[in-house]
Amino acid sequence: MQSSSAQILDGKALAARVRQELRDQIDAGLAAGRARPGLATVIVGEDPASQVYVRNKRRACEEVGMANFHTELPAEAGQAALLDEVARLNADGAVHGILVQLPLPRGFDYDENAVLEAIDPAKDADGFHPLNQGALMQARRAPVPCTPKGCMRLLAETGVETSGKKAVVVGRSNIVGKPVALLLLQQNCTVTICHSRTADLEAEVRAADIVVAAVGVAELVRGSWIKPGAVVLDVGINRNEAGKLVGDVEFAAAAERAGWITPVPGGVGPMTIAMLLANTLEAAWPDA
Ligand code: GUN
Repeated sequence: MQSSSAQILDGKALAARVRQELRDQIDAGLAAGRARPGLATVIVGEDPASQVYVRNKRRACEEVGMANFHTELPAEAGQAALLDEVARLNADGAVHGILVQLPLPRGFDYDENAVLEAIDPAKDADGFHPLNQGALMQARRAPVPCTPKGCMRLLAETGVETSGKKAVVVGRSNIVGKPVALLLLQQNCTVTICHSRTADLEAEVRAADIVVAAVGVAELVRGSWIKPGAVVLDVGINRNEAGKLVGDVEFAAAAERAGWITPVPGGVGPMTIAMLLANTLEAAWPDA
């Protein structure tokens, strides 16, 4: 019989609590005469997964009492039209956060880096602008990418002392792996970033007090590798051969050893949108 020793980090419940806190803050600010925070969402083309993600983000705005300004451009609109739209949103005082859903359609002249750089860094709700990524490297106050921010909020929820702990990040993307490594460093972890060329991933994970898996390979991190009592944050969302949604960590076996672990789905995922709302509120009311 399997016995799960880990405490499950319920991201769905925590995200709901964060949204309630944001709602309370927004209600109080509005009552005090502040302008309603607003998030602009921009989607280009018809990618079904992107449509679902953006719909969820818009719904979350509504839930917390934030304004949402939504733009849909056809796939063939092109880079110049998209940059015009970003410029319009940059200039709109009712818009405090701007999110251009990625990826942009393939087969056209889109340049994602140029689009991200065109967003006013002060309205960069995703924390993807190179200026904000640079600020993160220097541990300066700036919008932080939403998934890494959600991971840190989940980690805080465990109450585990981070200082001096060994953290292993599996994955080196600009939107998760690298920023979450920098945030763990800010929390005084000793951080190792692993990737597809890491010589001995198992040995790295076995030594980790905190594991963040963000590599996009179904169950790459085996449960037997987890150090007893470790905190395991699984950012992956993959379908296994059976078509089941699984993370980057072999959940059931890992849960027998971990102290804390996030499920997939219902772990890190729901926190991402909650942190997007938090970034937008911070952009709208930086002194609140
Ligand atoms: N595509 C997948 N995730 C994200 C995200 O967090 N932000 C944006 N802008 N696009 C995405």
